[in-house]
Amino acid sequence: MTDKKIIAIAGATGAQGGGLARAIMEDPAGGFAVRALTRKPDSEKARALSERGAEVVTADLDDTESVTRAFRGAWGAYCMTNFWEHFSPEKELAQAANMAQAAREAGLRHVIWSTLEDTRKWVPLEDDRMPTLMGKWKVPHFDAKGEANHLFADAGVPTTNLLTSFYWDNFIYFGLEPKRGPDGVLAITLPMGSARLSGIAAEDIGRCAYGIFRRGEEMIGRTVGIAGGHLTGEEMAKAMTRALGEEVHYAEVTPEAFRSFGFPGAEDLGNMFQFKRDFNDYYVGARSVDEARALNPELQTFEQWLERNKERIPVA
Ligand SMILES: NC(=O)c1ccc[n+]([C@@H]2O[C@H](COP(=O)([O-])OP(=O)(O)OC[C@H]3O[C@@H](n4cnc5c(N)ncnc54)[C@H](OP(=O)(O)O)[C@@H]3O)[C@@H](O)[C@H]2O)c1
Repeated sequence: MTDKKIIAIAGATGAQGGGLARAIMEDPAGGFAVRALTRKPDSEKARALSERGAEVVTADLDDTESVTRAFRGAWGAYCMTNFWEHFSPEKELAQAANMAQAAREAGLRHVIWSTLEDTRKWVPLEDDRMPTLMGKWKVPHFDAKGEANHLFADAGVPTTNLLTSFYWDNFIYFGLEPKRGPDGVLAITLPMGSARLSGIAAEDIGRCAYGIFRRGEEMIGRTVGIAGGHLTGEEMAKAMTRALGEEVHYAEVTPEAFRSFGFPGAEDLGNMFQFKRDFNDYYVGARSVDEARALNPELQTFEQWLERNKERIPVA
């Protein structure tokens, strides 16, 4: 048995939860211990966590019983859902409900819910400036997370809502890397106009979450928005030009054009960028670089992230 406060981490084998797990394990004197939830305890990532000292437990967010078992005896939990595995906002809502119920049954003292805005508060379904998707959503992977906020509050779970930002890692893994135009020049293509995109290194999300657990009580009931920087498309392209040593342009397209790109999730992302562009003052204002850095003093800027990751950006 450990006398440390155990943090049960959904998504510990992934980007957000992995950042939190690493932050806890790199600070052995910090008073916290990692319990990693995974469906695949034999996977390479789960084994790597175990080798570094994490307790690895099998749990499926679709199965409340398994989550309750995984939460029992823990102090806190990091709760997240992965929309991109199934593209179902209803499934995200159901998984959030399962985690909220499990957190209540296990009597957790502090839960962090990784959330985003329910954009329908800004763009109601009848507002046709952007299309309604899958019947009742504007930005499905945002809306369901925002709608789920109340599930934790209603269950009486002591919760901090963590409002995340666009991962800069999307320039590596998410198909948003700079691509060559017909003129052979590299360009990042975003429908953001001259608005600012709040971004962050995915690893830093979990590291900020660690800062929230360390602060404890004072963070309960709060919504904390974090970013590593708020950059325009032009600014990101200029920083990439410097990092890659080759000209990168910002190719501005309309949200309509982005929605029509045809890859899975293009409409959802087109609406997402439009929300961020059209409500830019709100969107950027809700995410603080200063607070993120106070929670995580090693918070990376875009330039620092690029310097560490430029070789991984798949430029052909
Ligand atoms: N890309 C962005 O810019 C961005 C920005 C903000 C927020 N987000 C949100 O971040 C989420 C993805 O987070 P991520 O990037 O950390 O994910 P990720 O790296 O793709 O990893 C997904 C994690 O979720 C776990 N998981 C998924 N379904 C599960 C289930 N049924 N039961 C137990 N564990 C499950 C996986 O665990 P196992 O496979 O080991 O079971 C894995 O650890 C998405 O919902 C997305 O909307 C993304």
